[in-house]
Amino acid sequence: MTQHTLKHLTTVKECHTWCLAQKHTGQTLALVPTMGALHAGHLALVTYALQQADRVIVSIFVNPTQFAPTEDFDAYPRNLELDLKHLKALGVHAVFCPKTTELYSDSLNDQTLVMPRIVRQILCGQSRPHFFQGVATIVLKLLNCCQPDIAVFGEKDYQQLIVIRQMIQDLLISCQIHSIPTVRTQTGLALSSRNQYLSPSQQNLAPELFKALKNIEQGLCAGNPITCLCENMHTHLTQLGFKLDYLTIRHPETLEKLQPEDTTAIILVAAWLGHTRLIDNLICKHSFHQPAL
Ligand code: PAJ
Repeated sequence: MTQHTLKHLTTVKECHTWCLAQKHTGQTLALVPTMGALHAGHLALVTYALQQADRVIVSIFVNPTQFAPTEDFDAYPRNLELDLKHLKALGVHAVFCPKTTELYSDSLNDQTLVMPRIVRQILCGQSRPHFFQGVATIVLKLLNCCQPDIAVFGEKDYQQLIVIRQMIQDLLISCQIHSIPTVRTQTGLALSSRNQYLSPSQQNLAPELFKALKNIEQGLCAGNPITCLCENMHTHLTQLGFKLDYLTIRHPETLEKLQPEDTTAIILVAAWLGHTRLIDNLICKHSFHQPAL
């Protein structure tokens, strides 16, 4: 087996130089942006990227502009040593771990920001108004640092994926966006760095979220009315101890409310379990027909 050395890049200049050197020698380059505390979901993105491109660079950066002052920026899990071990074992070529001052010069309050399309305001954007602006801004910066041929994202953060695809299209960025399905525990819980916040009893409860999504999917395919399905599961999850932010069925490409003629859908949920906010989604694989109301 070939053992790669993992190139550790910390400045924008180093990152730029390394990435351009790869491209100049004719290698294709894939970027996997992350905030670290890597789990099997992140590693699945990396494995996929290694299959798609000659060189893979992973960024690890906990991006301050996507956290509100009341959110968990300081508490967000950080474990660089273990992350590097995982990436080395997979054969990743480079890791970019910049300090905040490398990516944001001057005050964080006075920055050029990317304003995503209107989808930024719905669902997660309603309870986290600055979130998608922060995500779009940092992803654009990372794309500029690396200029990859492809960038890989997870479908677990489905709204984020839509925002990024729209940004790529609107700002004429020449990078292909690839996505991979959500990686879950055996019990169905979507892996997330924030799962570390859950107590043992909350960890036992958390898989109920995905069970609710499956239940709604079954109902949808059986032709049950959407409003009833969501209301029933909303009540069920609330009784179990979740505080629902949203539980909704949307169009898989636009995330707009489903129209009667739509035959494909995505079910999305965001819910608090204690102090931890969990999100998940399920793309309905089978087309369905909504009953006339
Ligand atoms: P982070 O939460 O670290 O996630 C990095 C990437 O891993 C994202 O594309 C996310 O969708 C994907 N991912 C997370 N959990 C996953 C799972 N269980 N299965 C499959 N993919 C999963 O998302 C971010 O960081 C940030 O917003 C970022 C895009 C890096 C910008 O700061």
